[in-house]
Amino acid sequence: MTAAQGNGAAQADLPIGVFDSGVGGLTVLRALRSALPDEGFIYLGDTARLPYGTKSGETVTRYAEQAARVLVGRGIKLLVVACNTASAVALGHLATVFAPLPVIGVIEPGAAAACAASVSGQIAVIATEGTVRGGAYERAIRAARPAAEVVSVACQLFVALAEEGWAGGPIAEAVARRYLAGVVAERPALDCLVLGCTHFPVLREAIAAATGPRVRLVDSAETTAEVVRECLLRSGLRAGQGTRGAGHGGVRFLATDAPARFVRVGAVFLGEAIAPADVELVDL
Ligand code: DGL
Repeated sequence: MTAAQGNGAAQADLPIGVFDSGVGGLTVLRALRSALPDEGFIYLGDTARLPYGTKSGETVTRYAEQAARVLVGRGIKLLVVACNTASAVALGHLATVFAPLPVIGVIEPGAAAACAASVSGQIAVIATEGTVRGGAYERAIRAARPAAEVVSVACQLFVALAEEGWAGGPIAEAVARRYLAGVVAERPALDCLVLGCTHFPVLREAIAAATGPRVRLVDSAETTAEVVRECLLRSGLRAGQGTRGAGHGGVRFLATDAPARFVRVGAVFLGEAIAPADVELVDL
């Protein structure tokens, strides 16, 4: 059953679908669970086809639709596109294909968080190649704050470092300095940097060491959770509102490649252990 087919309490009892190219979106799931403890979740990581960040917009859009279709087929009441790259290039497409299912991405919430955090209006965005190429963050930031000056930097190596478990220490710090020291030094008024990729929150310390204390780091996870909460309230879809709730914080995981790696690497991003029995291998 899809959200479109369900109604009332039955629909509110469905889980929230969350999709990412791999395990990085677990940083967003973590924020969602903490903000919405009564909700149930089903998370799909397209681990077999990661990274999305280096692929063309057409390919990412096709992959994103396939992944979303699996979640919709399982029965969800709302879809969160936790992947920045997929949000940047495929959000409108997904919203059209799966209407009237609410589809929420991470770019606009991340841009809103940056506009709220920056005093000077000079904002840096770091993301994958695909996200930077499309310019979605710049558009979203300027829509909310037209005078903002935005510089975007593709930091593709951060994804590999995070996946490898090398999020801290001298190698991560050297890579962060290489990408960011010049950008910060050339812009004395820069005071905010958006972690515009699911993988980057785990590198927060190495990135902060390169940018220094005057630059505030923001990510979209918490603001996305807030947007999801508002959307559920607006549509009368909150679990636990006169219903038994969808799963009281329960999560089911789907992965397109070996669950063993999902369990191992995913725990770093989720911030807690993942039970192998909770991860199902799926084919798209
Ligand atoms: N999930 C992707 C993003 O947030 C990062 C990993 C990838 O390139 O697939 O852009």
